[in-house]
Amino acid sequence: MATACRHISEQNQNWLGKVLGRVKSPRLASMLHDEFTVVAGGITLIMLARYLLLVGPMGTLLMTTSLLLSVQWLLRPRNFPPGPWGLPVLGNLHQIAVDPMKSLTEFGKKYGDVYSIRIGMDNVVILCGWDAFKEAIVNKADEFRMRPSHLYIYKEYADSKGIGFVNDATTHRLNRKFVLKTLKEFGLGKQTLEEDIAQEARYLCHQIYKHDGKPIGKMGSMLTRSSAGIILRLVFGKHYEWEDPEFKLFVGNITRGFELMTMYGAIFNVYPWLRYIPYVKSLGQAVMDNMSDFKKLILDKIEQHRSSRVPGKPRDLVDAFFDELEDNSGVNDFSHLLPMVADLLTAGMETTATTLHWTALYMALYPDVQRKVQDELEAAVGKGKAPTLADVSKLPFTEATIKEIQRICNVAPLAVPRMTTTDVELRGYHIPKGTQVCMNLYTVHMDPKYFSEPEVFNPNRFLGDDGKVQKMEAFAPFSAGRRVCIGEQMARNELLIFFTTMMTHFTFKLPEGAPTPDLSKGKLGITLSPPDFEVLAVRRTSGDIIENI
Ligand code: HEM
Repeated sequence: MATACRHISEQNQNWLGKVLGRVKSPRLASMLHDEFTVVAGGITLIMLARYLLLVGPMGTLLMTTSLLLSVQWLLRPRNFPPGPWGLPVLGNLHQIAVDPMKSLTEFGKKYGDVYSIRIGMDNVVILCGWDAFKEAIVNKADEFRMRPSHLYIYKEYADSKGIGFVNDATTHRLNRKFVLKTLKEFGLGKQTLEEDIAQEARYLCHQIYKHDGKPIGKMGSMLTRSSAGIILRLVFGKHYEWEDPEFKLFVGNITRGFELMTMYGAIFNVYPWLRYIPYVKSLGQAVMDNMSDFKKLILDKIEQHRSSRVPGKPRDLVDAFFDELEDNSGVNDFSHLLPMVADLLTAGMETTATTLHWTALYMALYPDVQRKVQDELEAAVGKGKAPTLADVSKLPFTEATIKEIQRICNVAPLAVPRMTTTDVELRGYHIPKGTQVCMNLYTVHMDPKYFSEPEVFNPNRFLGDDGKVQKMEAFAPFSAGRRVCIGEQMARNELLIFFTTMMTHFTFKLPEGAPTPDLSKGKLGITLSPPDFEVLAVRRTSGDIIENI
């Protein structure tokens, strides 16, 4: 388009230039040129005014709309995946705003597994079902590696640093390598992290126990605090009590960040100019203020670490980062530390907590499955004893139940947006470099080709004929490819220990006469949380394991 405009204006210049070139005096030529411009401009304005009088406001609106639609059509790359026509400026936002997951899935049925929509003025490719997801995200991992980190809020949040919004391949690889190594050193596969998780799980059960079998309305926020405790301990090396003011600040800030990002953040990413519009700009300011409070909280912790650390003796991830910087062997530079910590805290807290929240609801609604899990736990480790990770192989049905809940609940149904690194061909379509790509993981997990009767809750689908847990190709709650969730292993450990500890000590039930929550009415924000519900936790064990923590 820009080239076309340049071409037209060059053509005009040549035409005018040729005429004026015949004039001998350069001064006269320049005067004539200016006169011509003024006259031509004047004529255009008069024509425009006459036109407006002629067609009236309605006609003007129609003309402007068709003009904008034509521009939109011209801006659409050639041989781009098909998709619904959108409105000027809005694109398809009005069609997806009410129930994004449903509309993005319905469009897939109409336009195919690789289709496109417009969000504002941006073309976005949507991938539906396992086959399309695999062809792009797994088979063309490098081409679909980046994130749209240039978008306003993402840029303000991370400025292409840390992990989640870093695009430079080498930096991304180095930073991921450092985090994975540190996760291993401080926990994964080691007794320490497992014991931390078990301790948090017991503390959670203690809090549940305090409800004394009465309805628990705020199960979600209890679970958020539990998973926050673990990730904060890993990053800052500190065990927080739930009442600790600093802990409350972190949890409150991250929870609010998720809410604000859902309500306003996405809009400011699409229309960054809204931040200059009176009244509206205060909404964007709320996102920014929360973000800067969050950064300040993290920075204070980093500075405390800098002054109290003993080089070579890391207590946690922040200390390990300083060591790596001094060794000059791993991470790039200090500026990555804050966004890296921010990524781990935000990505590590809400996702795990929301999955556990769904498990409580599913167990209350499927008592047979709950009973079977509890029987398996008792047979494997004995009555009243919570299992450890070493017991996993004895708990196939329990593991399958967690997987089935992850599949059917889709805690991260649209994952995190990606962006193409280069021009790429997919299913015969051309997707230019820098195109945003959205992975509809809900359609992956509901793909009937890979999951028979996908709408049915059936943990047995994850069990092979030998009764052992079987790998299912299209199961991807942590996504895949170059940006697959870095906390996958840690999250799996957390889910197992929390779920089994809760199942050891309690049976979940809906309160007598309470309406059955509609499982299809999850609340979509950055994650998909269960609909509001109250649950009873009936004590199964005696003794003071969770009474006196
Ligand atoms: C049940 C829990 C979790 C789920 C369902 C989940 C899911 C996801 C998904 C779908 C992505 C997007 C990957 C992509 O772009 O393809 C992601 C990325 C990420 N997750 Fe998780 N996650 C969970 C727990 C965690 C935990 C505990 C941590 C921290 C230890 C974590 C840290 C991250 C980070 C840093 C990224 C960005 C990776 C990158 O861009 O390279 N997640 N997660």
